[in-house]
Amino acid sequence: EKGGYDYFMLKEIAEQPEALESTMSGHLQDGRIVLDEQRLSDQDLRDVDKVFVVACGTAYHAGLIAKYAIEHWTRLPVEVELASEFRYRDPVLGRSTLVVAISQSGETADTLEAVRHAKDQKARVLAICNTNGAQIPRESDAVLYTHAGPEIGVASTKCFLAQIAAAYLVGLALAQALGTKYQDEVVREFTELEQIPAAVQTVLEQMEPVRELARSFASSDTVLFLGRHVGYPVALEGALKLKELAYIHAEGFAAGELKHGPIALIEDGLPVIIVMPSPTGRALLHSKMVSNIREIQARGATTIVIAEPDDEAAAAIADHLIPIPATPTLLQPLVSTVPLQVFAATVAQSRGYDVDKPRNLAKSVTVE
Ligand code: M6R
Repeated sequence: EKGGYDYFMLKEIAEQPEALESTMSGHLQDGRIVLDEQRLSDQDLRDVDKVFVVACGTAYHAGLIAKYAIEHWTRLPVEVELASEFRYRDPVLGRSTLVVAISQSGETADTLEAVRHAKDQKARVLAICNTNGAQIPRESDAVLYTHAGPEIGVASTKCFLAQIAAAYLVGLALAQALGTKYQDEVVREFTELEQIPAAVQTVLEQMEPVRELARSFASSDTVLFLGRHVGYPVALEGALKLKELAYIHAEGFAAGELKHGPIALIEDGLPVIIVMPSPTGRALLHSKMVSNIREIQARGATTIVIAEPDDEAAAAIADHLIPIPATPTLLQPLVSTVPLQVFAATVAQSRGYDVDKPRNLAKSVTVE
C-alpha cells in the first residue's frame, strides 16, 4: 500500500507527475477546454465579471497561485480568500460572480459554508475537488475533479499540484468563453501545462542532494522562505509544510516586503530558502531577487536558492543551490514546490516525526 515507501506522504510526492497527468487528461477535446460536471452554460461563463477563490490551508495557496494565471489570461479581477474569513464578512457577490471553491476533501467545513453563502447570494460556484461526490461538489454549479488519487498523508502534496493545474484549466476555460485569448493560444497554454509532469519527474530524480541539505538543517529553530510573483505563494506553502511536519517556526514572505519588517529577523546562520524567478521569463523580478539575496547575506543569512539551470547569478551567490528545470513563469510553482515538500519531509523524518500524521492535525477539517 505504501509502495515501498516509509510513509504515504513520500509515495504521494513521488506520484505527482501521474497526479498532474490524470488531472489534465481529457480536458482538451476538439481544440476546446472542457470541465467535468458543467452545469454552467458558456453564456454563464461569459457573464462572469469577477472571480473569488475560497479555500483553506494548502488549497488556499493553490488559489493564490491561480490568481496570477486567471487574471493574466481572462483580465477578470480575482480575489483569493481564506474560506473562514470570506464567510464571516459581507463579500460583494451576485449572479455575475464566479466563486471557485478549492478543496481536496470536498468536506472542509469553512469552505462548504463559504460555498453556501455564495449560493445564497446568487453567485455561481465551481468546485475543484479530489473526492468524487463529496459535499462541496454536490452543492456547486460546476465541478472540476483533480484526479490525484487518494491522499492519505495529512500534509497535502500531490493534491496541491493537481489543484493548481485544475485552477489553470478553469482559467483557460474562462478565457475561451470570454474570448480574451485566441483559441490557439488557449491550446498552446494547455500544451505547455502538459509538459510539466515530465519536469516534475526530473525534479524528483534530483532530490538526494535536497535530502542531504535538509538533514544538515534539521536542528534549525526557524526557517524563512522568500518568493516573488507566483513564487510568493510557493514560499507560503514551503513554510506551511515545514511547520506542520517538522514543528519548526517557518514563515514565507514576499521578498519585496523584507525591508518593511521581516529583514529584522535575519541573524547569523539563519536559513532562508529562496524561490528564484526565472532569469529569462521575468528578468526584472529576477534582478530584484538577486538584490534581496545580497541584502540578507550581508546580515548573515545562509541562503538556499531554488533556481533554473541557466541562472548564473543565483549559482554565483547561493550558499546552497537547488536546481529545477526551466519552465514558463506561470508554471514554475508546479516544479519549485517539489523540493520544498521533500525538504520539509526530510527535516521531519530526521527529527523522528511521523510525516503521515503530524501532531494536532486532521486530514479533513469538518468542524470549525
Ligand atoms: O480538504 P481541503 O483541501 O479543503 O483541506 C484544506 C486544508 O485543511 C489542508 O490543505 C491543510 O492545510 C493541509 N494540512 C495542508 O498540508
